[in-house]
Amino acid sequence: MEYNTLYKNNPAVWGAEPNKLLQMIFEKLELEFPFLDLGCGQGRDCLFMLENGFRVTAVDSAASGLNSIKNQILEKGLSIEKIELFEEDMQDFAIEKEKFSVINAFNSLQFLPKKDALKILETIKTNVKVNGYILIASFTTKDSFFEKSNPEKRCFFEENELKNIFHDFEIIIYEEKIVTDAGHPGSPEPHEHGVVRMIARKPLLTDS
Ligand SMILES: C[S@@+](CC[C@H](N)C(=O)[O-])C[C@H]1O[C@@H](n2cnc3c(N)ncnc32)[C@H](O)[C@@H]1O
Repeated sequence: MEYNTLYKNNPAVWGAEPNKLLQMIFEKLELEFPFLDLGCGQGRDCLFMLENGFRVTAVDSAASGLNSIKNQILEKGLSIEKIELFEEDMQDFAIEKEKFSVINAFNSLQFLPKKDALKILETIKTNVKVNGYILIASFTTKDSFFEKSNPEKRCFFEENELKNIFHDFEIIIYEEKIVTDAGHPGSPEPHEHGVVRMIARKPLLTDS
């Protein structure tokens, strides 16, 4: 999917509300928890956090998504002091150790080759702050596009794979299911996705 073109023509492709996992955990987050958004799109999650006073770092390879975020910051009169935007492949973004207390990768890891998604997950695990949260939504091998896809290009998780990767974290939410997508800009026909959603928290002692 060509996100640059998609974002230029549609102001809120993924909706304006923050993602469901972030909504679920939001009350537990403290203002001094820096937030990293990997594959931030048009910024529904990072803007929500910024509006609520959090320090935010957001990464996406689609320039038009980041432009949309900058426009919204201006329109809403939000402070630019607390946000850093990186137009970058998330694989090249160096996640500083112990900097972030919340790392969000909502529907973005599936666009990486599997081996690269696994590498990023290990980096996230190692570098998130102790007591910090990881929020991930991605696709599973039950997805309708799985059979036709190339593992060199796309990541689909096996049953329980994500949970097993985070075996030494506290798993707060974990679900795998099939959802029907009514269609959206870029993929307008109804289709089914196998999805996995997880919130995990880093305990004091881990294997990482
Ligand atoms: C389905 S959208 C989700 C956007 C956002 N997380 C949300 O939920 O609204 C996936 C996003 O991941 C970004 N993306 C895909 N591959 C990427 C990569 N290798 N590095 C950085 N961003 C990437 C796309 O540009 C797109 O904005």
